[in-house]
Amino acid sequence: MSTLLPISIDDFRDHARRRVPRLFFDYCDGGAGTESALRGNVERFGAIKMMPRGPRNIAHRSSRVSLFGRDYAMPLGIAPIGLANLFWPGTDIAFAKAARKADIPHVLSTAASTMIEDVAPVVGDNGWYQLYTSKDDAVTEDLLSRAEKAGYHVLVVTVDVALPGKRRRDLRNGFRLPMPMGPKFALQLARCPAWSFASLGKPIPRIVNLERYAPASSAQSLAAFMAAQISPMVDLDQISRIRERWKGPLVVKGILGPADAAALAERGVDGVIVSNHGGRQLDSAPATIDALPAVVAAAGERMAVMVDGGVRTGEDVAKALALGARFVFAGRPFLYGMAATGSGDPAVEVLKDEFDRVLGHLGCPNVADLDASFIWRDDKGHRERQTA
Ligand SMILES: Cc1cc2nc3c(=O)[nH]c(=O)nc-3n(C[C@H](O)[C@H](O)[C@H](O)COP(=O)(O)O)c2cc1C
Repeated sequence: MSTLLPISIDDFRDHARRRVPRLFFDYCDGGAGTESALRGNVERFGAIKMMPRGPRNIAHRSSRVSLFGRDYAMPLGIAPIGLANLFWPGTDIAFAKAARKADIPHVLSTAASTMIEDVAPVVGDNGWYQLYTSKDDAVTEDLLSRAEKAGYHVLVVTVDVALPGKRRRDLRNGFRLPMPMGPKFALQLARCPAWSFASLGKPIPRIVNLERYAPASSAQSLAAFMAAQISPMVDLDQISRIRERWKGPLVVKGILGPADAAALAERGVDGVIVSNHGGRQLDSAPATIDALPAVVAAAGERMAVMVDGGVRTGEDVAKALALGARFVFAGRPFLYGMAATGSGDPAVEVLKDEFDRVLGHLGCPNVADLDASFIWRDDKGHRERQTA
């Protein structure tokens, strides 16, 4: 474990583990059930090997990509994170600043702990808004019109949280909102002086954007609060209604199957994020990098297919692109970086630097040329060595 300057997302995680109170570290780091989906996302990236080409002139490399009518500095964005400020105080705003500085997207969660109206001016047009549809259509409409007024252009509707995931670490730790202030928690705070110091004078993180609709919420557990708010009824018809309502690009997040992707393309959706919510919902879900190619095939040219889950290096970003993703998102890597350094920038810089290096190492100086020919396959076309 590095005790010097963190140089990788894994280093950031090691640092975060020591700096963040256990209750909050586990809330962000953990997954559902046995955490098989969470591990699978990371491990399946590791199983893919890439095939460099050369010799090639790689003196001038470009990571810039275009999506939904605008350019971004690289094909990587910050995924929506609910209650991110628990992991480290000020995370929502720090992510918004980092995204704007690096010219990548930042997706603000419905369950953020900073007001939409406060994040929007910081992030500018690097901001996307993530919606959890509410049981009450008037709440959904109000969230959409707030996001629109604040200047958000791209809307991401998350569809894999119709029921909360069973996250064992949170249940064991007694993770609740509001925070339990017993001696166990006080001990965790004492062990994490940097976190405690950074939190001084800051409001206790809450799901602030929803409070106006459910003022009694803060007395409930997080699971009960989210369950009370999020609609278990989001279906294709609701997506069609949102499609009619939202003028800008519409993305659906939380898709794993090609048939679902095809149905969404038919409803006029502009993009999907292949995601299992970072392994926080269905523990038996496939690794997202394994689910990606079939979704890409089903979507064809109709939608931008993106992916998240398990990205920990710039090489992972390249693998996802080579397997057909137009764009990639990561969640925890940016949280780890934030807790390790107190800023959103270093994790973005680490991944940007690694991604630029992989373009060079592959002999693929232009990101637009990254395709399946850069994925190593054996003479039978298998991506992995077959045992027996
Ligand atoms: C602490 C935490 C909170 C999250 N909150 C949300 C959320 O509010 N909305 C959402 O669509 N996804 C949420 N996600 C899922 C992420 O957007 C993303 O799908 C996932 O983190 C990707 O996996 P990775 O962490 O391995 O990169 C959350 C993930 C984490 C770790």
